[in-house]
Amino acid sequence: MTLLHSAHGGNTREAAGVLGIAPENLLDFSANINPAGMPATLRHALQNSWQLAERYPDVEYASLYQALAQHHQVPSSWLLAGNGETEAIFALVAALAPRKTLLITPGFAEYRRALALVGSDIVEFRLREEDGWALTDALLDALTADLDCLFLCTPNNPTGLLPDEALLEAISRRCQALGITLVVDEAFMDFITDQAGMIPTLAGNPHLWVLRSLTKFYAIPGLRLGYLLSSDEENVARMRRRQMPWSINAFAALAGEIILQDRDYQQASLHWLAQERPWLLAALQAVPGLTVWEGRANYLFFRCDAPGVELQRALLQQHILIRSCANYPGLDERYYRVAVRNRIENERLIAALGKVLNDISRGR
Ligand SMILES: Cc1ncc(COP(=O)(O)O)c(C=O)c1O
Repeated sequence: MTLLHSAHGGNTREAAGVLGIAPENLLDFSANINPAGMPATLRHALQNSWQLAERYPDVEYASLYQALAQHHQVPSSWLLAGNGETEAIFALVAALAPRKTLLITPGFAEYRRALALVGSDIVEFRLREEDGWALTDALLDALTADLDCLFLCTPNNPTGLLPDEALLEAISRRCQALGITLVVDEAFMDFITDQAGMIPTLAGNPHLWVLRSLTKFYAIPGLRLGYLLSSDEENVARMRRRQMPWSINAFAALAGEIILQDRDYQQASLHWLAQERPWLLAALQAVPGLTVWEGRANYLFFRCDAPGVELQRALLQQHILIRSCANYPGLDERYYRVAVRNRIENERLIAALGKVLNDISRGR
């Protein structure tokens, strides 16, 4: 049985409630947020901008769109910004209303919820443990003319794996040939050094939609900002017309104007991850009973084979919250995901895991 009802990581309120403690007393490895916290440049700007709360944000968000367009070197008519990437997912699905959609499992839950709202039929392409959870060219055969839409998540959540570039290109070509809308969720792409993702291929490929989030890399999940990009300007304009006015608050809009230019923060974050992900990966791999897959993102995915272990519950007793992946279609209670955090916190996780698994093997 799953311990928590929440469909996502990061629900520290619910988890803390299980123990009867304050959420601040939990060390949260279940949400994949940059542990550096928001950029100092943004914190200062927010502290000095309280007066923004007293007037409406620019309903057209001209400065925000300009910043996003400049950052990605695309026309701003290719962009729709939203209250987190989640708003962009729902806006896209509502506007395109695909009749039949292929989803990759395991994958992020919100595509399915948005698709259910427009009554889309959903078919699944199951990633396989035998393939190390990697996307394979078997997906090409699963792309058939009766499909309207395919969602891909690169790097995938929860596995953290990036598909092979040539395969991604082949998938995009096949989608174009068959008239399938290809939606590529790059929510965690900023964490991967030297990966431009699919944005450079948008020109001339109006079947392609890229989703981006700023909440993870820049540690602003409470502020909320994300966007979509496509060269299908007509459909982007239609989505903007249908969008609820002022859905992005003035502070989030300001954040978008500031953080994309903060090169020091970006470099420091990539440097931190280059040190900490390999450290955490090796430390997890050294824990007996765990099988860990080497994802590229700021989180790691693993299976726990110790019989009868409820790892999430056991770690919670030590005030550590990890993501159980039992509610991902295609996975079960043995699978977990942990965010990469700073060294002291990562060490705490490893020590707690060692203790839990040791206690169990000794029958305590
Ligand atoms: C793969 C993926 N896409 C999108 C989102 C939503 O991001 P946002 O916080 O920008 O709405 C998440 C959040 O966990 C995610 O994991």
